[in-house]
Amino acid sequence: MSADLTAGIHDLSVATTQYVLTHETLARQTGADVAKYHKGIGQQSMSVPAADEDIVTMAATAAAPILARHGSDRIRTIVFATETGIDQAKAAGIYVHSLLGMPSATRVVELKQACYSGTAALQFALGLVHRDPSRQVLVIAADSSKYELGSSGEATQGAAAVAMLVAADPALIRLDNTSGLFTADIMDFWRPNYLTTALVDGQESISAYLQAVEGAWKDYTEQGGRSLADFGAFCYHQPFTKMAYKAHRHLLQYHGHDVDEADVVRAVGRTTGYNSVIGNSYTASMYLGLAALLDGSDELTGQSVGFLSYGSGSVAEFFAGDVVPGYRTHLRTDQHRAAIDRRADIDYATYRALHQRSFPTDGGDHATPRETTGPYRLAGLSGHKRIYEPR
Ligand code: HMG
Repeated sequence: MSADLTAGIHDLSVATTQYVLTHETLARQTGADVAKYHKGIGQQSMSVPAADEDIVTMAATAAAPILARHGSDRIRTIVFATETGIDQAKAAGIYVHSLLGMPSATRVVELKQACYSGTAALQFALGLVHRDPSRQVLVIAADSSKYELGSSGEATQGAAAVAMLVAADPALIRLDNTSGLFTADIMDFWRPNYLTTALVDGQESISAYLQAVEGAWKDYTEQGGRSLADFGAFCYHQPFTKMAYKAHRHLLQYHGHDVDEADVVRAVGRTTGYNSVIGNSYTASMYLGLAALLDGSDELTGQSVGFLSYGSGSVAEFFAGDVVPGYRTHLRTDQHRAAIDRRADIDYATYRALHQRSFPTDGGDHATPRETTGPYRLAGLSGHKRIYEPR
């Protein structure tokens, strides 16, 4: 591995769902004061997949523009991170590989560790690029978060995919080799194989996240990482956007700093724009934070960004990168805003029906209704096989 090689995020593309449920609509149903959602957890709305959308259709939608721009000749690996996998054996990335017509000389694999595995995928990709800088890796993080109807987690659902091209001499973010790591065996959030919704101890999960911030940062410092003052912005995992503020305050307090709210807003405020309207997209969440930061109006060239990735259970990693000069010309800001703006607003009854929807398990032919206006759809299930098609 060459010490002078720079590798990082060369392209980044976001996709989300056909539908959106606002927190006003949810509040009317739950009886909560909408301020609890808007101010208390910092959420305005959440993306809801249509009957013919899932992690594969969102992932293919996010990745297609990357292939259109860069081609697939240099991509020999797809790493797909998710905790809402559609099969216990087959990697969801294989369906994406097929929908996008990628070459057979590709390795495709799926990774899982709650919301953290998008970062594991990125780190594995960086390792491969350092091994052979002429190659690129397609990293995809896609999830649809789901809690029980009427539970306190319900307000923190969402769905999105982020596709990233990881390459040498990247156009967006150069990433350091130094990382701070933390793992602890905690039951703060989990989903047994027989459940479609996650189980969570909400307050315990917040404490576990904060403990992981501390642990990952401590290790980052011990590994010779940069100091807190070097960073212009921090991208935290955002199960709800107020969590990023809590995490940053915690990091400052851990350092013995007085917490100045204006500093906290400056550090994380620019990363929350997409998450506040999309909701928790698990593995994709932190990278939506990066997309919002880059797509914002501030010029970031040369600034250092700190990343804190957290996945319940729990694993966390702190790492850093620098925004590359000229990055603006490579952004997909219009595409990202269009993906958010195109969503159709749904009422609680429609959302509830989608939430409760599942395929029969009888092995028969079950077509899905045509709902999505996106480029790819889940056409149905036949003989226990999921059928995807371009729309
Ligand atoms: P809750 O019990 O519904 O809400 O649970 P609360 O009573 O804790 O209130 C939330 C905030 O709103 C509080 O602010 C209230 O004060 C405030 P805080 O004290 O925390 O700053 N509030 C109001 N503000 C203004 N006006 C009002 C008002 N009322 C209350 N009228 C909880 C909230 C997030 C716990 C719940 O939604 C939940 O369990 N969500 C799922 C778990 C979760 O997101 N955990 C986050 C950390 S774990 C993680 O990030 C990993 C994860 O992404 C999974 C993975 O890794 O795969 C989840």
